[in-house]
Amino acid sequence: MQDLNKLWRIFNEKFTDTGLVKGAFSAPGRVNLIGEHTDYNEGFVLPMAIEKKITMLGQLRNDLLVQVFDLGYKAEINFSLDRLSPSKRDTWANYLMGVVDEIQKAGYPLQGANLIFRSNIPQKAGLSSSAALEVVTALTMTELNLLKIEPVKMARICQQAENNFVGVACGIMDQYVSRLGRKGHVLFIDCRTKNYELIPFKDSNYQIIICDSKIRRGLISSEYNKRQEECKRATIFFAHRLRHKVQALRDVTIEEFKQYQEHLPETIARRARHVILENYRVQASRKSLEAGDYIAFGQLMIESHQSLKVDYEVSCQELDLLVDLALKQEGVLGARMTGAGFGGCTVNLVKRDNVNIFKKTIQKEYEKITGNIPDIYITTSADGAKVLKF
Ligand code: GLA
Repeated sequence: MQDLNKLWRIFNEKFTDTGLVKGAFSAPGRVNLIGEHTDYNEGFVLPMAIEKKITMLGQLRNDLLVQVFDLGYKAEINFSLDRLSPSKRDTWANYLMGVVDEIQKAGYPLQGANLIFRSNIPQKAGLSSSAALEVVTALTMTELNLLKIEPVKMARICQQAENNFVGVACGIMDQYVSRLGRKGHVLFIDCRTKNYELIPFKDSNYQIIICDSKIRRGLISSEYNKRQEECKRATIFFAHRLRHKVQALRDVTIEEFKQYQEHLPETIARRARHVILENYRVQASRKSLEAGDYIAFGQLMIESHQSLKVDYEVSCQELDLLVDLALKQEGVLGARMTGAGFGGCTVNLVKRDNVNIFKKTIQKEYEKITGNIPDIYITTSADGAKVLKF
């Protein structure tokens, strides 16, 4: 609340009051517990919204101008709603412009706005700071313009913004959970039907801990797009071989995979194996969580990491190190990389009694080997995007 008052003070210093609708909004980052690189294969995912978030304040304007100030980077941009094109210089602004572009394309009329925002989600860490920026922009602009867009539709508009305007062919997971997450729950999403279910996550005995390797690699989006291409090749292969309809790797069973794998190029076979087995793991994870079997769930997380490392090849030495160090600690049920990979974070399931010692040991051991101190976030599940009271 105090923080919000401070943000309003900054807002009022920056902009002249237009006398029109005002509001404050937030959207969280996420950690994916399991189901990695399955969303764009029409599979299953199990992410959780986290406490780290972006807060945006805004006021409607009488014209078509959008003025935005990013408090973290002290960066500013202005753009007009009737002249939107991706910026090569201010790439961060493309998330905002993409969202308003998609809202308008979906037939909703928008007026301009003055906006400021502050984020505490680390960037390029695999915790979906981009999706949170898209979602908070969408919520801010629709609420200020007194429009009603259903949460699911809003998430899809944000995904389209990233696909069409930013140029990253991401799946639906991040925007969905940033919009639809709920405290005390993880979100089970069927990325084909786009149906979702909130699964209770009882974290009284167990804690989710995120470890940031601090490794940030460029070229993530080109490797990401390459994996999608490889999955498409595998899909086409199975569509020709199998009698039933194969629209995505989601439609291939592990038995069918085993029967035909030797006819696939070795790399493509490994990519397909990851996706097919990961889909089984997500469904098994969901059952384990529903049954309160956190030990079984932790085991599935460990298997998922192994598969991402060996078959899908999206991990890196530092993420593997964090996982190895974690699995040597007492009270650790599971550990794996989370998000697109090639750096960023791991997610760990740790018994509550062991949290402090886990944090200290991981920091010490990781620093000893890499020279970097990892950031460690002890987080509970959080609500998706919301309107803030002020
Ligand atoms: C990124 C994408 C998601 C998903 C993950 C990998 O976070 O934005 O859609 O594909 O990578 O699971």
